[in-house]
Amino acid sequence: KPRTKYVGNRLKHRLDQRVRTLLSDIGNAGDTLGVEVFVVGGFVRDLMLEQPIEDVDVVVEGDGIAFASYFASLHHCRLHQHRKFNTAVIIFEDGLKVDVASARLEYYATPAALPVVENSSIKMDLARRDFTINTLAISLNTETFGTLIDYFGGVRDVKDKIVRIIHNLSFIEDPTRIFRAIKFSNRFGFRIGKVTANLIKNALNVGAVKNLSGLRVLSELKQIFGEENPLPAVQTMADYGLDKVIHHDLKLTDTTCALFESVGKTLAWHDLLYADDVYPRWAVYFMAWLHGYPFAVSIQIADRLMFPVKEKERLIEQRIKSEHRIRLIEKSYPVSTQQIYWWLIHFKTECLLFMLALTKNESVRKAISHFYTHQRKIKPLIGGKDLKSVGIKPGPVYTTILNKIIDEKLDGKLNTMEEEIKFAKHYAFENKLI
Ligand code: CTP
Repeated sequence: KPRTKYVGNRLKHRLDQRVRTLLSDIGNAGDTLGVEVFVVGGFVRDLMLEQPIEDVDVVVEGDGIAFASYFASLHHCRLHQHRKFNTAVIIFEDGLKVDVASARLEYYATPAALPVVENSSIKMDLARRDFTINTLAISLNTETFGTLIDYFGGVRDVKDKIVRIIHNLSFIEDPTRIFRAIKFSNRFGFRIGKVTANLIKNALNVGAVKNLSGLRVLSELKQIFGEENPLPAVQTMADYGLDKVIHHDLKLTDTTCALFESVGKTLAWHDLLYADDVYPRWAVYFMAWLHGYPFAVSIQIADRLMFPVKEKERLIEQRIKSEHRIRLIEKSYPVSTQQIYWWLIHFKTECLLFMLALTKNESVRKAISHFYTHQRKIKPLIGGKDLKSVGIKPGPVYTTILNKIIDEKLDGKLNTMEEEIKFAKHYAFENKLI
């Protein structure tokens, strides 16, 4: 029997009207179809932890797909079905998503073959999950709305701030859970339980992570590097020797730790000023993690992690180019605005942020952030068509002229199309192009 607790008030106070209505609509649909419905997992965990809530995960005791299609047609939502897994996603017009899973009614034949025994399916569904803090469910049907159901001591572990697995084979069954344990303990400031920590070590000793596909490790690493402050998680990974399992040359040094801190400050600066400018946050930390490793080793790591070709190019080659470029700028400083522009314009946001984190030279940092805030978006107002219309013959000279216009604009000149055209004509005339 589970422990139960009424958390209806918490739902009322912690959720906005939109989500509250959604939950009771889900409960009503469950009532109509005669199935039990629960909101589960991360949603309940984050509710109990007073963390911002993102996904709504629902488990239906019965046919989740039938439930989701009924709900979607009733509320005019889109529906994605995954028949193979008996799951569906309900998508509202504004993009809000509800994941629906079926708690399979599992029937066990008794030795005498008949009759079959039905198991409490929500319990079975929760028992398959990774950590106790992820096994909480809240009933949504009208009569029991707001009842928190705790089969595995999740409420106690949330209170005690502890990440604990439910059964001893958890990490062997799914070694990605080792990374997940570290991710959650870092995100919430929880410790990893003693038994759980020992089971992580055992799983590593028997080669569980070594046998894990690169894709799965990469996906976990991206999540860890995408967290607010991944440094403690990276340190925990090193304590368990996880980095060594990924590549024997990987070693967390003080320099890397200091760089992670610097990346943290840089990203905080950036995100405060440019909330709308999205970039893969994990990529900056990933570059920091691999900082200083030679090309060959970096490629081996990327291959072990089964990086898609494009990402591999971006993260390995671009990282090494960024490292070289920042050293060049430091060495050449002071340099002209134009030089900074042409040295940086082809780097993506994540590389620029990585360079900002790398340099310890305050003037260089200022020059790069000035480029980022004021110059990166500078472009000529005129284009090839305009050059053609004033009689300049198309060819590589177009790029030359447009780049010269950028150089002028970087000095605050040529603010209108007319001025740019005048400049282009003058340049063409001087160089005998017209
Ligand atoms: N789960 C699991 N084992 C995994 C991955 C997931 O048991 N290797 C379970 C967890 O119990 C989790 C649920 O599946 O509650 C959904 O996982 P996920 O989508 O990763 O969501 P969250 O736990 O909410 O994680 P996050 O907050 O990082 O999104």
